[in-house]
Amino acid sequence: MNLPQHVKVVEVGPRDGLQNEKDFVATATKIELINQLTAAGFVNIEAASFVSPKWVPQMADGREVMAGIKRGSQAIYSALTPNLRGFEGAVEAGIDEVVIFGAASEAFSQRNINCGIAESIARFEPVAQAAKAQGMRLRGSISCCFGCPYQGDVPLASVLDVIERLAALGCDEIDIADTIGVATAEQTRKVMAAASRVFARERLSGHFHDTYGQALANIYAALQEGIEIFHASVAGLGGCPYAKGATGNVATEDVLYLLHGLGISTGIDLHKVVLAGDFISTAIGRVNASRAGKALLAKQRST
Ligand code: HMG
Ligand code: MG
Repeated sequence: MNLPQHVKVVEVGPRDGLQNEKDFVATATKIELINQLTAAGFVNIEAASFVSPKWVPQMADGREVMAGIKRGSQAIYSALTPNLRGFEGAVEAGIDEVVIFGAASEAFSQRNINCGIAESIARFEPVAQAAKAQGMRLRGSISCCFGCPYQGDVPLASVLDVIERLAALGCDEIDIADTIGVATAEQTRKVMAAASRVFARERLSGHFHDTYGQALANIYAALQEGIEIFHASVAGLGGCPYAKGATGNVATEDVLYLLHGLGISTGIDLHKVVLAGDFISTAIGRVNASRAGKALLAKQRST
């Protein structure tokens, strides 16, 4: 299959990236990061979570973050909403797209959202109905499609089953997530090919964490299967609070460098993303995890 000519890169750093930081990241810093990312040209930014603040304290200021940002005219701002309470918070905050998030692994579902897969779908149903009733975009995210920190292997049949259940709820897009970054390229090809048989390929996305350093190879494998949407986190921020040892998402700068090098357009200004990665790494005192980001910064500083 030919590689896609254009790819949508969804920037998830402000949510997936920052949710795992131990020290509370100031609301103003989150706002500045989102503003820099908007200015870099992202059309979709995952900006917040409307979840229990006891479970994920870092995301407790979603409403204030959304009130403070300068919106891009084309940009869609997404938020995680596990239940109707989260949905209502997201709507009040001016979120454009809500994300219901389940798992292909029973064990991970229990640890992450405190219920099994079947129960999670039942909990998502009113959220999906409310989103559809308001004409809002609805995204479904599936954790542990390639392996689970608690149960190990995850059968492909479980992944396909959850895709079908989320599709039945009316999801506009479905994320195939490698929560703990264990996928390999051949496995990615198989999972993406099978997923494309049960849900429209152009509305499937790849959400890769880079724990084992395989994320770029997996993205290339997914591109070969015709996948056109990928999630990434500026400076490789993040990890999942309910997946011990998992590192952040693949770094956005690295993904853009790969895609642009393949002649695939994204509409995103890599230079501005590199500066945003430097800004947030410095602001939260973290080593920038983007190889391309660090290299481009060093090059810029030496000229
Ligand atoms: P629960 O305990 O089963 O639900 O949690 P509950 O309804 O009994 O609520 C428990 C408490 O939370 C109550 O407060 C509720 O009021 C409150 P209390 O009475 O104890 O004071 N609560 C809320 N507060 C604010 N906003 C809400 C909300 N809902 C309940 N929306 C629940 C179930 C889903 C709420 C909980 O498990 C939770 O919040 N989990 C969050 C998990 C999470 O955010 N994980 C990280 C994101 S997932 C991820 O990163 C993976 C992804 O990137 C893809 C990948 O890489 O795999 C997407
Ligand atoms: Mg994630």
